[in-house]
Amino acid sequence: MLTIEWTASSGWLAPRITPYQNLSLDPATCVFHYAFTAFEGMKAYKDKTGSIRLFRPDKNMARLNRSVARIALPKFDGEEFTKLIKEFCKLDERFIPNQKGYTLYLRPTMIGTQRTLGVGPPGSALLYLIASPVGPYYPTGFKAISLEATSKIVRAWPGGVGDAKLGANYAPCIVPQMDAATRGFHQNLWLFAEGGEEYVTEVGTMNLFCAMKTKSGEKELVTAPLDGMILNGVTRDSILGLARERLTKEGWKISERKFTIREVKEAADEGRLLEVFGAGTAAVVSPVRNISWNGSLINCGLPEDKEAGDLAQRMKDWIEGIQYGEEDHAWSVKI
Ligand SMILES: Cc1ncc(COP(=O)(O)O)c(C=O)c1O
Repeated sequence: MLTIEWTASSGWLAPRITPYQNLSLDPATCVFHYAFTAFEGMKAYKDKTGSIRLFRPDKNMARLNRSVARIALPKFDGEEFTKLIKEFCKLDERFIPNQKGYTLYLRPTMIGTQRTLGVGPPGSALLYLIASPVGPYYPTGFKAISLEATSKIVRAWPGGVGDAKLGANYAPCIVPQMDAATRGFHQNLWLFAEGGEEYVTEVGTMNLFCAMKTKSGEKELVTAPLDGMILNGVTRDSILGLARERLTKEGWKISERKFTIREVKEAADEGRLLEVFGAGTAAVVSPVRNISWNGSLINCGLPEDKEAGDLAQRMKDWIEGIQYGEEDHAWSVKI
């Protein structure tokens, strides 16, 4: 593991890479009570030539800095931390699988370490990195998921912290997910109700994309805008970038805009809903078969004998092609 301590008086101390071990923290440490914790999820990939690669690490560094700043933890130099992550990956090279789909998952984390029962800005913090080899999310190929849309339980709200990757955003989502599972659904589709409408935000811990035909017959790939309620996903941004570069010439309109679940249902009812998929580092894309909403089941357009739509499949292939260095691209950073 990689650890870097910070104190308000001395700033960042020297980084250390040590064997994986427990942290020893006073029970009054502020992270335990007031949730001073933010984290990232990224991966190290091994390409065909054996080189180690990261995927857009600058994005994870920028996001972690935004997250920690929101909870009064210290900002850090993202480029310097990336250099340390590279050193860490080189040292742990034997844990980076060399098969496509397999990676070393990297978990940068920052916690407030001040011992105090008072609530206030932590006077000390720990930035650390742990890692674990992981296999493909879908080892036997895609498995389309079913979602339960909910606006009664709200993941994020205007002026809240839905756009920060804070520990405090995750624990409250587990009970709603367990409840949805008792009804046979894999994930919650988080809606936000406003002005009599229910807007689509995110799914579980992924961003959401809908491909549909507009009433005038135009093909549109749509995802919710970065309005403070959505996590600015690296995969989301990559899909938007690739879609704008490669799909607009096929006639697709690429939209970051507010859209409602009613709009999705209407498209499905009129045969205009083409595909729905989640997007995140873990699975890259996660195709959706149906969405339960308001007592009806919205069919997301996947033929019964298929687990992924054409767009989801192409996005996964394009992004993995870049991640594993099969396609030369500035997003893939060779160590
Ligand atoms: C709430 C939430 N939304 C979206 C994402 C997808 O983000 P990324 O593509 O950076 O993994 C994640 C995962 O990190 C998440 O936790």
